[in-house]
Amino acid sequence: MKEYETIKIVQEDDGVTWLIFNRPEKRNAMSPQLHADCNDALKHLATDPRTRVLIVTGAGEAFCAGQDLKLFFRENDSNPAARFEAGENSHSWRWQRLSKFPKATIAMVNGFCFGGAFTQLIACDLAIAADEATFGLSEINWGIIPGGVVSWNVVNALNTRDAMFYAITGDTFDGKQAAKMGLVNYSVPKDQLREETLKLARRLAQKNPATLRYTKDGIRAVRGMTEAQAQDYLAAKSDALRFVDQEGGREESLKQFLDEKVFRPGLENYDRKRAAERKKK
Ligand code: ACO
Repeated sequence: MKEYETIKIVQEDDGVTWLIFNRPEKRNAMSPQLHADCNDALKHLATDPRTRVLIVTGAGEAFCAGQDLKLFFRENDSNPAARFEAGENSHSWRWQRLSKFPKATIAMVNGFCFGGAFTQLIACDLAIAADEATFGLSEINWGIIPGGVVSWNVVNALNTRDAMFYAITGDTFDGKQAAKMGLVNYSVPKDQLREETLKLARRLAQKNPATLRYTKDGIRAVRGMTEAQAQDYLAAKSDALRFVDQEGGREESLKQFLDEKVFRPGLENYDRKRAAERKKK
């Protein structure tokens, strides 16, 4: 895997890959270089066979302190070309690449999470925070609005009262409150964060990859559809899944349950090793 200036990619040997923002001395604020690095990394990781689950987190005390107020905003104010490129990269990786990433994604919020960082937080399929993490829609304090797609994401993820409250006060909240509002799935004490996140990631890495991908695509896509559109889309996706699933998960699970009686649905995955061996024959 490539080396980057502002991020670290760490690969476990069980399908879990870490994307770690690595500017701890600047609380992992997003510089134009960090946007370029993340954009490139996500492009490669999307098809990297060693990556079955991606965990996004930050080095040191912060998850991410939002856009770099110096390098992303002030220094680019008089350089429209650089601003345009940084803006494109910023949107591309945080929203387009991450929210459509073809494998499961988890945001592990280890500390400060401010402003623009809400985009990658919400783009991830799941999120776990440290109880002690500090979140804030701090844009109001900088004379700017929660732009990019932050406001759009926040009203989708939170109820309107909470979204409005935190956007116009700029008040901070902790990981427990983030969990209470549904902004993250759950929070745990900071000393358990890594272990709990890995536990979840490893469970996801065991799932049939094609089914997981189509499931997450479906959950995201149907939100903007009518019931009729959703039904049609999901029917088409279901048919397509049978075609793209190299493992034959549907046939395999039925065989293991109905014929071989080795699989209890609802309690566990079907035996994927058995599926792979059968495919080889
Ligand atoms: N942009 C640029 N530099 C930053 C940012 C940022 N968003 N956040 C932190 N830094 C820098 C600081 O300037 C400081 O740099 P220096 O060592 O050269 O002086 C360094 O990171 C450490 O920051 P401190 O403030 O000293 O660290 P502390 O742990 O006390 O506080 C905190 C961390 C709370 C995150 C604080 O730095 C802060 O409030 N940052 C701004 C957060 C924010 O509002 N982000 C939203 C930006 S708007 C947007 O994203 C659209």
